[in-house]
Amino acid sequence: MSRGFFVTFEGLDGSGKSTQLRKLAQWLEAQGKHVTITRQPGGTRIGDRIRALLLDSGTENVAPRTELGLMFSDRAQGIAEIIEPALERGDVVLCDRYTDSTEAYQGGGRQLGSEIVLQLHADLCQNLWPDLTILLLPDFERSLERARNRNARNARTGQDENRFESEDERFYRRVYDTYRAIAAREPGRVVMIEGDEGIEEVHRRVVDAVRARLGI
Ligand code: TMP
Repeated sequence: MSRGFFVTFEGLDGSGKSTQLRKLAQWLEAQGKHVTITRQPGGTRIGDRIRALLLDSGTENVAPRTELGLMFSDRAQGIAEIIEPALERGDVVLCDRYTDSTEAYQGGGRQLGSEIVLQLHADLCQNLWPDLTILLLPDFERSLERARNRNARNARTGQDENRFESEDERFYRRVYDTYRAIAAREPGRVVMIEGDEGIEEVHRRVVDAVRARLGI
């Protein structure tokens, strides 16, 4: 059996990547592909616990390097438990966030730099990179507004997971700029979709990118 195909979705909070991931999964299944969906942080039992630790806004004073270590602990588990076995089975794996998120948020946002992130990726993730990364970068102001709305909604419903979304604008600007730098550095892997084109148009572009690489 031939090895599967690994796709990640990236972008700021509120960029619409989870919606696009679901739509791509439906499209792939309609083409007869076997799809495995996962996300980071989370996706495994250990990962879900790490996610709760990381995103609970009551978890104060997480040092940037602690945060970095937890993201990679989650990822190592996700690779071992879900991603690698699925690729070996020949599945298309769709992962909501991966190491580019760590480079953008911890490397850029928390200002730890890219080098430590790429080194940890090499050491702890066997340097497993996606075959394709869809980076959704709607207009910066719009993304920020959507993330804040979601934050306010979560506060009303009592759902936590607010820690990153309550970061300030300068933090998000650094995340945004780092994402753009990653896309410029790796044009073969990363397909950047900018602007607010609407769900169906973005979906069409995502499908085009996948088709071109999978030959379907
Ligand atoms: P999500 O709500 O899109 O799943 O993302 C959870 C948050 O975790 C989001 O604000 C980005 C953040 N994050 C990092 O800071 N570093 C990482 O490596 C990952 C995977 C997520």
